[in-house]
Amino acid sequence: SKPLKVALLGCGVVGSQVIKLMEEQADDLAARIGAPLELAGVAVRKPGRKREVSFDPALLTTDAEGLVTRDDVDIVIEVIGGIEPARTLILAAMASGKSVVTANKALLAEDGATIHAGGGDLYYEASVAGAIPLLRPLRESLAGDRVKRVLGIVNGTTNYILDKMDSTGASFNDALEEAQALGYAEADPTADVEGFDAAAKAAILAGLAFHSRVTAADVHREGITEITATDVASAKAMGYVIKLLAICARSDDGRSIGVRVHPAMIPRTHPLAGVREAYNAVFVEAESAGQLMFYGKGAGGAPTASAVLGDLVAVARNRLARTRGPEESVYASLAVHPMGET
Ligand code: HSE
Repeated sequence: SKPLKVALLGCGVVGSQVIKLMEEQADDLAARIGAPLELAGVAVRKPGRKREVSFDPALLTTDAEGLVTRDDVDIVIEVIGGIEPARTLILAAMASGKSVVTANKALLAEDGATIHAGGGDLYYEASVAGAIPLLRPLRESLAGDRVKRVLGIVNGTTNYILDKMDSTGASFNDALEEAQALGYAEADPTADVEGFDAAAKAAILAGLAFHSRVTAADVHREGITEITATDVASAKAMGYVIKLLAICARSDDGRSIGVRVHPAMIPRTHPLAGVREAYNAVFVEAESAGQLMFYGKGAGGAPTASAVLGDLVAVARNRLARTRGPEESVYASLAVHPMGET
């Protein structure tokens, strides 16, 4: 059948990998979807910039709004990040009938309600924990269970930094520079080291896990900038390792939830202590399922692009079948206490 046309918003670390994978795996993707995918345009701010992938320069445009509303475009992938212009562009895309794939945790955590109300088919697996399939399991596989707790390491940059400090005695700044060089950090690493990125992910996870509306502002947040090489060394001497944890917990009566992000001392024998470099790990505890553990690469171009491509296949299949993914099920109005229960 005729190609599905894909517009890409943003061509940084993740966007370049998306183009690369779309090209390299074109035949497989076409076979799995039942129609070929065709890159219709790539919207960027600075067209002259050097990129990690080569493609027809005629596809580049600075007119993102024009691209997402173009008649021939079927699917819009947003990997710009940040609130604006991403929000306006996603809403414009949905209003003109496009399916949307986004990796934008900041936007979903701040104003997910508006994005979901936009009405288009929307997938966002890449927004939390990079390559790890986590949102689909919460949204679909666990839809028949009651989640009690979601806990884990959801920021690769801070885990990389803390791990380097722990294993080599490196200073915070040296470890941060390495993480940035490896492409794990956000454009502005403040979002990583101050815990904003993890807090946004925690809000998304809590919303899905507890079928409630949780925003980044509801999350108690403390980053890792105050942690010194001495703190790390003394934790180590006592048999502990410092990790930045995201904790989303439902109270026993089920009426309130607590969502928080902060550094914690973990015994070196705990499974989370073995999560090295930019890996992420998330435990989900549900009434019938019991404890589930998700582990994998939580940051970086290719792992995040893997999640984007998975969503791209899903929306493409939905489009051909004239259907859409599961609606966001927000029905529980729970009080959010930042510190909550653990
Ligand atoms: N900066 C993020 C991290 C990228 O380090 O985890 C993935 O969301």
